Amino acid sequence: MESIIVLGGAGYIGSQACKTLLAAGIQPVTYDNLSLGHESFVKYGPLVKGDLLDTALLSDTIRRYNASCVMHFAALASVADSVTDPASYYRNNVTGTLSVLEAMRATDCRSLVFSSTCAIYGQPEIVPIDETCAKNPINSYGRSKLICEHMMNDYSAAYGIRSIALRYFNAVGADFDGEIGEFRDNETHIIPRALMYLLGYIDEFIIHGSDFPTPDGTAIRDYIHVKDLAEAHISAARLLADGHAGGAYNLGQGTGYSVLEVLSAIERITGRKMPAVTGGRRQGDPAILVAQPALARSVLGFAPHYSSLEDIIGSAWAWHQKAHPQKSLPLTPARVI
Ligand SMILES: NC(=O)c1ccc[n+]([C@@H]2O[C@H](COP(=O)([O-])OP(=O)(O)OC[C@H]3O[C@@H](n4cnc5c(N)ncnc54)[C@H](O)[C@@H]3O)[C@@H](O)[C@H]2O)c1
Repeated sequence: MESIIVLGGAGYIGSQACKTLLAAGIQPVTYDNLSLGHESFVKYGPLVKGDLLDTALLSDTIRRYNASCVMHFAALASVADSVTDPASYYRNNVTGTLSVLEAMRATDCRSLVFSSTCAIYGQPEIVPIDETCAKNPINSYGRSKLICEHMMNDYSAAYGIRSIALRYFNAVGADFDGEIGEFRDNETHIIPRALMYLLGYIDEFIIHGSDFPTPDGTAIRDYIHVKDLAEAHISAARLLADGHAGGAYNLGQGTGYSVLEVLSAIERITGRKMPAVTGGRRQGDPAILVAQPALARSVLGFAPHYSSLEDIIGSAWAWHQKAHPQKSLPLTPARVI
């Protein structure tokens, strides 16, 4: 069976990629330091416990499993933390990715699929955002990923390591079989945070910013189901195997929802009131991030299947209820939407 090394395979998106790879007849090998991921999510193939910075262990793992490709999900990914602690972001994401490229250079593996992000565009001048838009990240997280893309292009030109950067917008939803989902100790993403709040695991839910230049004043994002992202990784790996030179593609739906629209969908789908407190904007948060996914559609055949908020929130709610049985009812906050 062909093998692919999945860096960060114990995390939210990486574990979904592992499940999708196995279903496609490819053996995923998770390489993860378990700093943020969950060992219990590694269900679809072996786990090698290791850090991105351990170049020797990385290249040994690639050789040991005779891997045809590396999928690189492992990163720190909180915009807010990257503003207060940029050193960790540059060390883990930039030096870590340099280590991955060096490990690949020491082996015969020449295909890399990389988790990039819409954060590389910063405050976009044009929405929807296509791949040619200016890249002016406004936080260290986005800058760390943009530097990685530059490194990957240079390694392609100089050493023939071809790579595809998939610039996700907001990954959401959970496995439809309820096996894996989105859960972090310090959760910052809107949907899991809201659902954990409804289940009594988080004390308050804050809307970060109600004065954005958007119709209802809250930030607008493009939400893309994790299962659709996982499928796109398989398409990217296949393209590289067929000799594709590499490139970068936006993965989003091309439709945006405001925070208030998402919260009201959560109320509709869970059948519960979603009390929320309005707070200030988070540093480094742009007003609107919506993808123009036409290039991904034409080159990768990217066609999201699970595009409705019902699919997205419904799958996440089903998984959270199973993984986190109701603890207590949410506290009543200052402002109820
Ligand atoms: N979640 C989103 O909405 C989103 C959006 C855009 C881009 N991305 C990118 O997608 C990727 C995956 O995101 P996620 O939401 O699944 O994150 P996650 O935190 O759930 O998973 C990341 C995994 O990488 C591992 N990891 C981190 N640093 C490591 C290191 N130095 N060595 C080994 N393992 C390490 C963690 O333990 C974890 O299992 C990240 O690169 C992130 O930047 C995510």
